[in-house]
Amino acid sequence: MTLIDLKDSLHNCQRCKLAKLGRTQVVFGVGNPQAAIMFVGEGPGFYEDKQGEPFVGAAGKLLNDLLKSIGLSRPDIYIANVVKCRPPDNRDPEPDEVETCKPFLLQQIELIQPKLVCTLGKWAAQTLLNRPVSIMKMRGQAVRLDHFTLFPLLHPAAALHQGNLRGSLEEDFKKLKAYLDHLDAPPPPTPAVPAPPAPPAQMNLF
Ligand code: URA
Repeated sequence: MTLIDLKDSLHNCQRCKLAKLGRTQVVFGVGNPQAAIMFVGEGPGFYEDKQGEPFVGAAGKLLNDLLKSIGLSRPDIYIANVVKCRPPDNRDPEPDEVETCKPFLLQQIELIQPKLVCTLGKWAAQTLLNRPVSIMKMRGQAVRLDHFTLFPLLHPAAALHQGNLRGSLEEDFKKLKAYLDHLDAPPPPTPAVPAPPAPPAQMNLF
């Protein structure tokens, strides 16, 4: 199975009720299929639904600026959502919709094999952690999972709606940058192994 096979298998997907609630198309995901860093949002909004690409609206523009601020750009990463179809009126995805779509997100991750999965907002973090989370408590801290490290970030849309979160989101990206720099840093030089003490001088027997 390739990423393209997976995308094709979801074309005109009818597996959950979002198919009948006004979505235009399935928004599978875009970016570098060999990316070491993947971003996961919640679900497509109005513009994503129309264009068929994640994060092309206002939250996407903010995301692009934040990526740029840490030396990344869209071609460096892969980006997808927890649910691949737009929930009506941008409501949160419902548990049955998340459960139906989650296996496809997990398959995307398995095929791309990113080292780091940066979740945007609470929904993506709790979907991949399989438990409810407080995003305000866990944001900006790497969590090692079996096959990748999860790095939870606030959702850019939250910062657009609540201006006071903008600084927190920028802080999250600074932490992400520090984390990536730390991964790239060459390992510290191994301390020179002290030479074993010289054997006691042998008595010259001859
Ligand atoms: N918000 C998301 O979570 N995903 C998108 O693709 C756009 C906005």
